[in-house]
Amino acid sequence: MEFNTFVGQLTTRKTECLVIAYGPKGLDCSDLQQIDQATEGLIARLIKKGDLKYADGGMQLINEPKGLAAERLLIFSAGKEALNEHTCLNTLSALASQLARLPIKSVSISLEGIATAERERPWQAQQLARKLGEAAYLFNPFNTREKKPASLSKVSLFCPAKQETGAMKQVLHLGGAIANGVNFSRELGDLPGNICTPTYLASQARALASRYPNLDCKILSEKQMAALGMGSLLSVTAGTEQPAKMIVLEYKGGKARSKPIVLVGKGITFDSGGISLKPGAGMDEMKYDMCGAASVLGTLSAIAEYNLPLNVTGIIPAVENMPSGSATRPGDIVTSMSGQTIEILNTDAEGRLILCDALTYAERYKPSFVIDIATLTGACVMALGSHASGLLSNDDTLAEALENAGQTSGDRVWRLPLWNEYDKQLKSNFADMANIGGREAGTITAACFLGRFTKSYRWAHLDIAGTAWNSGANKGATGRPVPLLVEFLTGQVSQ
Ligand code: BES
Ligand code: MN
Ligand code: ZN
Repeated sequence: MEFNTFVGQLTTRKTECLVIAYGPKGLDCSDLQQIDQATEGLIARLIKKGDLKYADGGMQLINEPKGLAAERLLIFSAGKEALNEHTCLNTLSALASQLARLPIKSVSISLEGIATAERERPWQAQQLARKLGEAAYLFNPFNTREKKPASLSKVSLFCPAKQETGAMKQVLHLGGAIANGVNFSRELGDLPGNICTPTYLASQARALASRYPNLDCKILSEKQMAALGMGSLLSVTAGTEQPAKMIVLEYKGGKARSKPIVLVGKGITFDSGGISLKPGAGMDEMKYDMCGAASVLGTLSAIAEYNLPLNVTGIIPAVENMPSGSATRPGDIVTSMSGQTIEILNTDAEGRLILCDALTYAERYKPSFVIDIATLTGACVMALGSHASGLLSNDDTLAEALENAGQTSGDRVWRLPLWNEYDKQLKSNFADMANIGGREAGTITAACFLGRFTKSYRWAHLDIAGTAWNSGANKGATGRPVPLLVEFLTGQVSQ
């Protein structure tokens, strides 16, 4: 999708569709007034007849509007009161999906009628670009009956002040890059486990790196991981035919000597549970167990496209968790790369087993801090549902920065505690720790487990089990938390 700005008159704008907002100022907004005059009072009549009203997601489409150069006029409701971040994002999403349904390739949009408390026009413009890009996502590589329809590809945003077009283009570029990262992440998530294997993820990482000179990719084989002592990770891959991979992507957009932020993404390409086999119902959704990995790839794609001046390293342990005669048994004891031993009481608590070795491996990149992203616990879905990702951290400053980025991007997080009392639940009779902490507080004990491997740096853990995909009729990956991570990273540039 291509983003641009335009200046001048809306009434003479030649476009397949002109989009304007009906917001708190009503007809007193310069946009609406201009158009009302050119159309001999059309807007006033629409309001009077009740066709144009304030309603969430409300929209009016007028074809061949007399007096305008545009082929269509779309007026969307932007609320009677100023919108907050959340309602503004919902309004822009509704607008974006409406535009995606129209048979048009290009659109001209004015946001003049929108008012958001606390957020200025550049934020709105960035979110608009992002939502339009996200609405263009269509996953149909296996649909043999329908071809991808031609879709919206050119977006122009009205810019009343000419001197602001530069800044506006910048935020549109960022919003578009985030949408591309989100869609890349969704596609990897939506691909089935027989295609999106650890080897496939590695090839996607390599392909991404080949597009940017300042992005390097390296893949560790099982043999190399064995030499590093990653006994915990390798215990998860013991039952599958698919070779495990450790993917390392280094993005060098910042100063050569500045320490990288390291992102670690859980890449279980299918989680059957292993010998502790999961029940059959809904097991297909465990193809999404690599959404943490996908979010790391999507985030790197976005920041590389935007050319963010920061160093970021992505580490992705990619493994399939399967039962077989060679699979790890409950009761088995393994030694992690850190030297700590783990009694595996449940082979379905496998995410932490691959993450702990990746987190130890992250030490060698001398990170300024580390964020891991994982579809780690069903308990997190019970606690927070699909609205917020779980956040656990050993550093308050980092946690607050992530909370703020969640608010700004609408990709929200909610913090849970990492108290010592929870950590004690991981006690094992036979090894340094067990890989499960009992029925209570499953999200926290899982994070406590990871916390035993992150003592040497500032660290945050995002449990995205509830936010990474939708179930039911709208089953599909969401691309979260790419918007959160990119917002967070852009905020780190000035620091
Ligand atoms: N990938 C799952 C977590 C999950 C479950 C995510 C459902 C989304 C929806 C993870 O590997 C897992 O199986 N966790 C177990 C841990 C338990 C055995 C301690 C869980 O949550 O049940
Ligand atoms: Mn599992
Ligand atoms: Zn899992």
